[in-house]
Amino acid sequence: MSEALWIAAPGAPLRGEVRVPGDKSVSHRAIMLAALADGTSRIDGFLEGEDARATEAIFRRLGVAIETPEPGVRIVHGVGIDGLRAADGPLDCGNAGTGMRLLAGLLAGQAFDSTLIGDASLSKRPMRRVTGPLAQMGARIDTGEGGVPPLQVHGGAPLSGIEFDNALASAQVKSCLLLAGLYADGDTVVHEARPTRDYTERMLAAFGWPITFAPGIARLTGGHRLRATDVRVPADFSSAAFFLVAASIIPGSDLLLRRVGMNPRRTGLLHVLRLMGADIVESDAGEEGGEPVADLRVRHAQLRGIDVPEVHVPDMIDEFPALFVAAACASGATRVTGAHELRVKESDRIATMAAGLRTLGVAIEEAEDGVTITGSAEGFGSGTVDSHGDHRIAMSFAIAGQRARGEVVIGDTANVATSFPGFVQLAGRVGFALRAP
Ligand code: S3P
Repeated sequence: MSEALWIAAPGAPLRGEVRVPGDKSVSHRAIMLAALADGTSRIDGFLEGEDARATEAIFRRLGVAIETPEPGVRIVHGVGIDGLRAADGPLDCGNAGTGMRLLAGLLAGQAFDSTLIGDASLSKRPMRRVTGPLAQMGARIDTGEGGVPPLQVHGGAPLSGIEFDNALASAQVKSCLLLAGLYADGDTVVHEARPTRDYTERMLAAFGWPITFAPGIARLTGGHRLRATDVRVPADFSSAAFFLVAASIIPGSDLLLRRVGMNPRRTGLLHVLRLMGADIVESDAGEEGGEPVADLRVRHAQLRGIDVPEVHVPDMIDEFPALFVAAACASGATRVTGAHELRVKESDRIATMAAGLRTLGVAIEEAEDGVTITGSAEGFGSGTVDSHGDHRIAMSFAIAGQRARGEVVIGDTANVATSFPGFVQLAGRVGFALRAP
């Protein structure tokens, strides 16, 4: 197990207010579209995490001037839809699957060649889900053996639109094809039986690209231009999720989460926690930068195990590690099915969570596409768990530690900086007992 240990211990009831950092999905897309627009765009609430910064660094290398007048703000001087230029070496997406998959589509439409590389985790993740349909559009991309990075994107291939069924329910695949579609001849159409997050569609519309979309379908035509616009990034629901679960399972907690992004394609966990008996109240619902936001007040509640309805799976795909921790504290069994995709996230999230939860004394059975967890009022035992460099798993075990009977030592936590810089400090402010010695 590598360094970057955290030590979590039984904590105090969570109290106070939290505003979590900006949304990762929106931050990636804001940089990409602002870079390709005509004119200068301002991004507020940009996530100062390693994933979004990796994408930003890539666009600088592709010739885009980007200023940082203050943390969380970017001024992007767009170069226009055909204004990118070749970089002088491989483009490093770091840990970010979103960065690499969206860039594969966008770079397939350029006149020049590019190479996309990533860290150890990203270098194991499947890329044929994007290179396959991109090849149908006419793109020429080589993968490493077995369909993993690096990706060699050969520019200059004429693209044509396709009609694609997004059977994996992957927003990254959909977004990749829509971005390639900007450069394609004719229509690019993506159908989804299980709708996924629609930030690419919403943002393309905000930047003035003609696009029609509704849950289950997105359609655009190549050959238009993007107009610079200002983007306000909402707080990331997936980061708020750790606090929703933590306050739900720690007796005496009463926590207010401010201005959380509430895009319906992201809030599956909220529905599922409520089905389990959670006490979460929304107030001051409004809009920031075209996205719904609300304050969420969450108080401790005794949770009950449930069969998680599969319809919620795409809308909470990043929240399963946190849900597993909630399930371990619920009365009765919680069963998750239809969540195959967890096997190919930043780690195999079914295997990584199952190993760590077992170490902490939780009864968990693995299936190929999910788990069954039998909860206990006792919470967690103590022990040492490995997050396998997966940011969301590290934060999930930090929550488990708050309900443990002793210390929980969590290994390989450095990648929390990819999505939630400052997590340890913020969590400590509202009552977590969590140290990064
Ligand atoms: C993302 C889509 C999801 C999600 C990831 C971000 C996006 O991945 O897990 O964290 O920004 O489009 P998939 O599309 O592969 O499910």
